[in-house]
Amino acid sequence: MHTCTRLVIGVAFFLIGVFAQIPLADQLKCRLCNNALELRDCTKQAICDNRTEECYMDQVLTETFNTVYRGGCQSRDRCKGGTPVLIGKREELIGKREELIGCSQCCSNDDDCNRRLCGIRPDYTNVTQCYFCDSSKSDQASVSKPSDCITLTTCDTDQVCYAHNEYHPGSAMTFKYGCQNKYMCKVLMRNVFEFMSRCAGSSSAECQHDSVNCDVCCGDGGCNYDDCKQIKARHYNLWVLGKLNNDTLQVIP
Ligand SMILES: *[C@@H]1O[C@H](CO)[C@@H](O)[C@H](O)[C@H]1NC(C)=O
Ligand SMILES: *[C@@H]1O[C@H](CO)[C@@H](O)[C@H](O)[C@H]1NC(C)=O
Ligand SMILES: *[C@@H]1O[C@H](CO)[C@@H](O)[C@H](O)[C@H]1NC(C)=O
Repeated sequence: MHTCTRLVIGVAFFLIGVFAQIPLADQLKCRLCNNALELRDCTKQAICDNRTEECYMDQVLTETFNTVYRGGCQSRDRCKGGTPVLIGKREELIGKREELIGCSQCCSNDDDCNRRLCGIRPDYTNVTQCYFCDSSKSDQASVSKPSDCITLTTCDTDQVCYAHNEYHPGSAMTFKYGCQNKYMCKVLMRNVFEFMSRCAGSSSAECQHDSVNCDVCCGDGGCNYDDCKQIKARHYNLWVLGKLNNDTLQVIP
């Protein structure tokens, strides 16, 4: 075979390998933390392969006695180990570079499950982290598949999480995520829930014309994942059960 042809084939296979998609059912999203002090420093998720990997969180005590967190995907084999270890080569330990792992934990039961591991400080009670995929302001633009949004942001204290589906005639729907004013959201959701309540089991004209566009808000950290309509349905079910705080839009435990 011609060397050049071989090279082209080699490169093609390399690219296929790099961009090979993990089947949706085997995707596990894990919070990426790189020397984070608290959860709000971790604003990205990694997409891991749940067949071979788990989410992990390490609490690392640095040589300067700071506590930082590192997290992401890790092989299932490495997760089975899990006893505290010293990082770095022996010679380095004798020298000055020395780090201790105070805690190392793994999980794979849920997307983003490692945000609860090793005691990493969560969001403050009145500050919320939300998925953030928006053409204008975020690192990540609006997405054409809800599961593609893997960027988070910390909203202002007067904001909650927000999601929006946008219908474009003749092309694919886009999904937008971010923060929205708490007061506006409270009014929006009161209207949304009352409409859904009126239309539950009704076939009146008003209920036939649910808009294809969708807006929804919710008050818990990271609650704005999924298709807007799914978020609405999820929170409506809680609202019906009296399990949603009408003021904060947070789930009542
Ligand atoms: C990952 O796989 C485990 C079984 O090994 C399963 O219990 C879990 O639900 C999966 N996680 C996700 C997010 O699909
Ligand atoms: C946020 O919470 C802290 C402590 O819980 C409180 O001191 C502060 O006033 C709150 N801020 C707002 C804007 O609610
Ligand atoms: C929220 O408001 C609705 C009426 O608008 C009420 O039926 C429901 O009990 C309220 N939920 C809570 C948790 O207070």
